[in-house]
Amino acid sequence: MSVSKNIKRVTTHVLKNMKQRGEKISMLTAYDFSMASLLDKAGVDVILVGDSAANVMSGFETTLPITLDAMIYHASSVVRAVSRAMVVVDLPFGSYQGNSKEALHSAIRIMKEAGAHAIKIEGGKEVSESVSRILTAGIPVMGHLGLTPQSINKFGTYGVRAVDNDEQEALMRDACILEDCGVFGVVLEKIPAELAGRVAEKLSVPVIGIGAGAKVDGQVLVSHDMLGITQEFSPRFIRRYADLSAEIQSAVKHYIEDVKNQDFPNENEQY
Ligand code: KIV
Repeated sequence: MSVSKNIKRVTTHVLKNMKQRGEKISMLTAYDFSMASLLDKAGVDVILVGDSAANVMSGFETTLPITLDAMIYHASSVVRAVSRAMVVVDLPFGSYQGNSKEALHSAIRIMKEAGAHAIKIEGGKEVSESVSRILTAGIPVMGHLGLTPQSINKFGTYGVRAVDNDEQEALMRDACILEDCGVFGVVLEKIPAELAGRVAEKLSVPVIGIGAGAKVDGQVLVSHDMLGITQEFSPRFIRRYADLSAEIQSAVKHYIEDVKNQDFPNENEQY
C-alpha cells in the first residue's frame, strides 16, 4: 500500500518526494463535488480538473469550447470536496495563448476564484514565457506534452505523438525547458513508452503518463473512462475498473419499472 496515504495534504513537495522514493503517483480527473469527494476519500494523490470537462460534462467533440469561467465553476466544486488530494486545473484554450500577461491573469483567476492548488498548461517552448511568469506569482505549474488536445486542429489526429526521431528530440527539449522554468511536474500524453521512460529518467520532477507506458512516475486517467461511465471512447491505454454505465442503466430501468408498477414509493417511503 502507498506510503503517502498518511499524508494530510498532497503538495508539490510531497510529489517530488514520492518520485525520489520511487512511489508511483495516482491522478484522476474530476469536475464536480460528488465525484471529487469519492476520489479524495479513496486516496487519489492528485485530482485534475481537466478541460476534458468539455467532452465529458458538456458533450463537445473537442476541448476547445470550454471557457475559463466554466473551468473555475468546475474547479471550485472540486476544491470544496477535497481535503487531501492536490487539485490541479487546466488553463483552457484561449485563456493563455495571447501573451504571458493573459496567461498569468487566467492562472490567478483559477487560484483566487476556485481555490485551486496548481494549474496545468499545454505546450513546451512556446509557452515557456507564460510558465515562468505564472511561477513568479507563486503559482505551481504542471506541463503537458505529447498529445495536446487543444492543438487537435493543427495536428488533425488523436494518434500517437513523437514517433519519429525529430519529434522525440523536440519533446525531450521541451520537457527540459519546462523543468528549467520550474514546473513541478509534466503530463505526457499518448507517446511511446520508451520515450516517456527516458523523459522520466532525465527530469527530477514527476512525470505523469496517460498512454505513455509504465516507466513514468505516475498515471492519470479520465475518471469517467476508467469507471466505464463513458463507453464510446476506448483507446488501448484505458483500463476499465468498473462498468458504471451498465450499473446506472440497470438501476434507472429498475426505478422506471417500480414507478410504472406503483411499487415506488411504498408505505415506508412516504409521510
Ligand atoms: O483534460 C484532461 O483530462 C487531461 C488529461 C487527459 C491529462 O488533460
